Amino acid sequence: PNVLRRVKKAAPLTEEERPAMSDKPQMTTSAGNPIADNQNSLSAGPRGPLLLEDYQLIEKLAHQNRERIPERAVHAKGWGAHGTLKITGDISAYTKAKVLQPGAETPMIARFSTVAGELGAADAERDVRGFALKFYTPEGNWDLVGNNTPVFFVRDPLKFPDFIHTQKRHPRTNLRSPTAMWDFWSLSPESLHQVTILMSDRGLPTSVRHINGYGSHTYSLINAAGERFWVKFHFKTQQGHAHWTNDEAAGVVGRTRESTQEDLYEAIEAGNFPRWTTQVQIMPELDAEKTPYNPFDLTKVWPHADYPPIDIGTFELNRNPDNYFAEIEQLAFSPSNIVPGIGFSPDKMLQARIFSYADAHRHRIGTHYEALPVNAPKSAVRHYHKDGAMRFFPNNPQPDAYYEPNSFSGPVEDQRFLEPPLKISGDAARYNHRDGNDDYGQPRALFELFDAGQRQRLFHNIAAAFGDTPDFIVERQLGHFTRVHPDYGAGVRAAWEEAKRTHPNPSISAPEDERTPAVAK
Ligand code: NDP
Ligand code: HEM
Repeated sequence: PNVLRRVKKAAPLTEEERPAMSDKPQMTTSAGNPIADNQNSLSAGPRGPLLLEDYQLIEKLAHQNRERIPERAVHAKGWGAHGTLKITGDISAYTKAKVLQPGAETPMIARFSTVAGELGAADAERDVRGFALKFYTPEGNWDLVGNNTPVFFVRDPLKFPDFIHTQKRHPRTNLRSPTAMWDFWSLSPESLHQVTILMSDRGLPTSVRHINGYGSHTYSLINAAGERFWVKFHFKTQQGHAHWTNDEAAGVVGRTRESTQEDLYEAIEAGNFPRWTTQVQIMPELDAEKTPYNPFDLTKVWPHADYPPIDIGTFELNRNPDNYFAEIEQLAFSPSNIVPGIGFSPDKMLQARIFSYADAHRHRIGTHYEALPVNAPKSAVRHYHKDGAMRFFPNNPQPDAYYEPNSFSGPVEDQRFLEPPLKISGDAARYNHRDGNDDYGQPRALFELFDAGQRQRLFHNIAAAFGDTPDFIVERQLGHFTRVHPDYGAGVRAAWEEAKRTHPNPSISAPEDERTPAVAK
């Protein structure tokens, strides 16, 4: 596989090819002052201590100390590339968004990621893959920040930080904790659908070229007549699905921790551009009141038979970033970035994400993160936000118009962009999100799709993931699997019992005799 090949790098020039010193551009300090010597620091005598006035040295060391920014709290490890979305279908009856009109071609950038691992984590890990897309449309940026799964682990955002804590390191052991994961999941049966996908073949893709993407949430589309429709976005890989088993992935990680980075980068360098068919499922606004499931529940899909996916185009990734840090690490997505003709929905998880991402970026990158080149819209940006750290872009062209309303021809609102009113009713209260929600039916529909081999791998992946989880927690989780399907519960139980027989201390990923031996005295 690709992981064994060396990643191509730009070839350095040979001695003969190198231009003479005088033909090369002048190196400078960051203030533009020419640098005379970048090899030797300024010292008192050849062996002597250094002089404080060696500003070049000080600037260089000071910059190095500031090279890292906080990694993303989740989805820290990622891979990305630039591309283009082309719309070939016609959904103009449902949306006025320019980016979705027939024939539209929109520049974009994608970042894929794992969720739990830190910035240096290995790529070939069993985890959900982030699938975040930023489209630079004529009406500002549209960000669709999805995953490679159509559903999620929780349906109420109040549970999201707790869920993430179970995926990250235990505060005392500093290790990932299977007990925490299964304790939380077994007490949160709304997670069953996503857990089943995570533990299935699709939970460990060989590369992000071989995954689907899903906007996951329900969003809305608004047409020129001001009518609202509910929508789900899907992106189907044209490369086909490809997965690794746990054992195969262990071998891959032993050879390279960067298998996805290598695969995506190399494919694009070779002109083998990955593509995804872009689809929508559309639901008339009033259907939301009669579907047997809550269409705004992020733990549910809309069955294809009820709302068939409609092909509307393709996106292709065709350019690697020149500077990973500037273009991928500083890339900042937010579900709050939407364009006229595309809107939100009452999905509680989406509502929380509308707040959370921009807040995370202000902390991670800074107040004016949207003005960095990779985040900046390719259409006009005109607002009245003032000052702040790193305010490096100009004010509105009319310097007197620094507040609103004003009499100096500053930018103004336009009511044509108002969304149609959304009827909402109900008493403000903390409603139990479990009431009236079936957590078992859709996982059952998925389980019934799996063939015998897929089921066996699902059982074994779950048993392996149980690790050292105490029996009473495993039993609680087995109860949920059995409620999904008796064969699901029985299959996992058999695999768990086998794992306990053959690998009695599964909490430690390497068996005792394979761990680093103590140094002999
Ligand atoms: P369908 O039979 O029409 O759709 C089944 C879909 O399941 C397929 O189109 C495929 O989605 C997806 N799928 C197939 N194999 C796997 C796998 N190993 N892991 C994850 N997904 C897989 O039935 P329904 O629409 O009624 O859905 C039945 C179940 O399928 C759902 O409960 C859900 O778990 C799953 N599913 C449904 C999706 C939807 O939007 N309706 C989307 C994805 C999964 P795809 O074409 O997207 O690859
Ligand atoms: C990243 C919050 C649910 C997909 C992040 C980040 C935060 C966050 C704070 C880091 C942002 C950064 O520092 O750049 C939340 C909250 C959620 C939630 C509060 C629920 C209430 C989801 C869901 C999905 C998702 C449901 C997918 C459907 C992603 C992706 C990234 C991300 C893909 C990485 C984006 C990138 O590549 O930069 N999330 N998240 N998240 N989240 Fe979520």
